[in-house]
Amino acid sequence: MLSNSDLILVAGATGGVGQLVIGKLCQKNIPVRALTRSRNKAKQMFGDKVEIVVADLRYPSTLAKATKDVTHIICCTGTTAFPSNRWDFTNLFEPKNNPQAVDAEGVTNLVKAAPKDLKRFVFVSSCGVLRKDKFPFNILNSFGVLDAKLKGEAAIVASGLPYTIIRPARLIDGPYTSYDLNTLLKAKTDGKKAVVIGTGDTLEGETSRIDVAQVCVECLNYEVSAGKAFEMINSGSRPPTTDWEQLLAQID
Ligand SMILES: NC(=O)c1ccc[n+]([C@@H]2O[C@H](COP(=O)([O-])OP(=O)(O)OC[C@H]3O[C@@H](n4cnc5c(N)ncnc54)[C@H](OP(=O)(O)O)[C@@H]3O)[C@@H](O)[C@H]2O)c1
Repeated sequence: MLSNSDLILVAGATGGVGQLVIGKLCQKNIPVRALTRSRNKAKQMFGDKVEIVVADLRYPSTLAKATKDVTHIICCTGTTAFPSNRWDFTNLFEPKNNPQAVDAEGVTNLVKAAPKDLKRFVFVSSCGVLRKDKFPFNILNSFGVLDAKLKGEAAIVASGLPYTIIRPARLIDGPYTSYDLNTLLKAKTDGKKAVVIGTGDTLEGETSRIDVAQVCVECLNYEVSAGKAFEMINSGSRPPTTDWEQLLAQID
């Protein structure tokens, strides 16, 4: 069980899922360190509620301070699947913050910087990593986002650290931080759709950022989710309460 003697590093703290993860940990009074590239942005979002550390996954030298003494890491970093200003172009052919840099090399750097006695490394990956050749994932992977996520996953698994890998489908529910149709439409579940978890990368649909954040935190309480990779979507009517332990126990 998580306790207030733990210290959770949240990478991608200012992102849609990251903000929600921080909110959930703060509600439970669990100490949090928010990894951000912009102290001002994080300060505006979280005030003094959490410790803020400025680091960039691309630069290993910035990560030692970020990971010092943390007991768990929740990594919800990412960039856009298609070229955008988030790729940090210095020129047309040299994007500095594309999926390869963030999701593959960046995540690998974070794994290397993690304490050897880390209790859990949680990674927000993506549905489709095991069916990159099938529509619509072949389109999504045009610039290598799924290749990069899978490389990030492989680095985590190879590290020997206890891990949980979560593969959501297209994200819905705010904060609307992605550049896509769901952001344009402000697509939401209204908390009415059940959480469905599966393995083997077969599920299709959409996933609530709120539930992704919840599972990032809940999985830390249950040993049964260690060493597991699973996909999740929202579908069907939501029961009055969600039994996370039971859901996570279903993972093969
Ligand atoms: N959008 C979808 O439909 C979808 C579907 C499946 C999976 N996912 C994955 O779900 C995850 C969470 O999604 P989201 O909507 O919360 O993402 P998001 O809002 O775009 O957040 C991404 C976060 O990553 C941080 N980041 C980017 N480059 C970084 C770097 N070089 N070093 C450190 N931090 C860096 C950003 O920080 P800054 O504020 O500094 O930019 C931001 O906090 C992402 O990994 C995404 O790939 C998304």
